Amino acid sequence: MTDFDGRTVLVTGASGGIGGATVRRLRAAGADVIASGRSVESLERLAAETGARPLAFDLTSEDSVRSAVGGLDVWGVVNCGGFGGEIATPMETDIDVFDKVISVNARGALLVTKYASASMIRLGRGGAIVNVSSQAGLVALPGHISYGSSKAALDNITRVSALELGRYGIRVNSVNPTVVMTEMSAWYWGRPDIEGPFLDQMPLGRWATEDEIAAPIVFLLSDDASMISGVSLPVDGGYTAR
Ligand SMILES: NC(=O)c1ccc[n+]([C@@H]2O[C@H](COP(=O)([O-])OP(=O)(O)OC[C@H]3O[C@@H](n4cnc5c(N)ncnc54)[C@H](OP(=O)(O)O)[C@@H]3O)[C@@H](O)[C@H]2O)c1
Repeated sequence: MTDFDGRTVLVTGASGGIGGATVRRLRAAGADVIASGRSVESLERLAAETGARPLAFDLTSEDSVRSAVGGLDVWGVVNCGGFGGEIATPMETDIDVFDKVISVNARGALLVTKYASASMIRLGRGGAIVNVSSQAGLVALPGHISYGSSKAALDNITRVSALELGRYGIRVNSVNPTVVMTEMSAWYWGRPDIEGPFLDQMPLGRWATEDEIAAPIVFLLSDDASMISGVSLPVDGGYTAR
């Protein structure tokens, strides 16, 4: 396993399923982890279990992100905080939900990148950022107008950030997972009429586990991926290869 040798990594969405699994893996690999989300109680539970440092802030507020992240010394970032929004077509979308999804998934990740990269550049030790995107950012999925748009925007944030931060030795990549049965997804993807037809289209034919997403996140963050920047890596059982 890769050794992060005490490097400090900020993980947003750490109070959630994929973020929590990422924190556990990073701690096991020797990273100093700052675990963030909004729920102080969940973060403190995770901190007690893993030794990560809890830091609560709201991704939708620039003031909140600036005051929490602006002064941190970090080597790496995992932008994992996210919001599922609604299942709706372009014809029936609630535009307030669209704004909120964009505000958490794309704007929030960009704000964290903005303030964290300033400290990474100042420290001059290079670094890595991994954005947790989705298969919904790569292909059209029914009902995913808001969420898919936010993740496509996040993939562009990945590419442009890779372009602009490369000169500082900072790599930026996305992982684009299929469904993991966390709180965010179970209410929709767990429906028998949705689950069966979708899995029939996927070469591996099953949902991912939290750990199967955390592992490629940690790989892309690590020096094992030292020549990889600007990619959106499907972690989708082959779904988007069809
Ligand atoms: N689950 C899936 O099937 C799936 C598939 C592909 C991609 N993803 C992506 O993977 C990431 C993690 O998903 P998950 O399933 O682990 O989700 P989850 O369990 O629902 O967790 C979501 C996380 O985002 C945080 N968050 C939401 N709004 C926030 C805000 N305004 N400010 C700060 N933090 C906020 C939550 O913090 P609090 O609860 O503390 O507020 C929580 O830690 C998301 O970006 C999601 O889009 C998930």
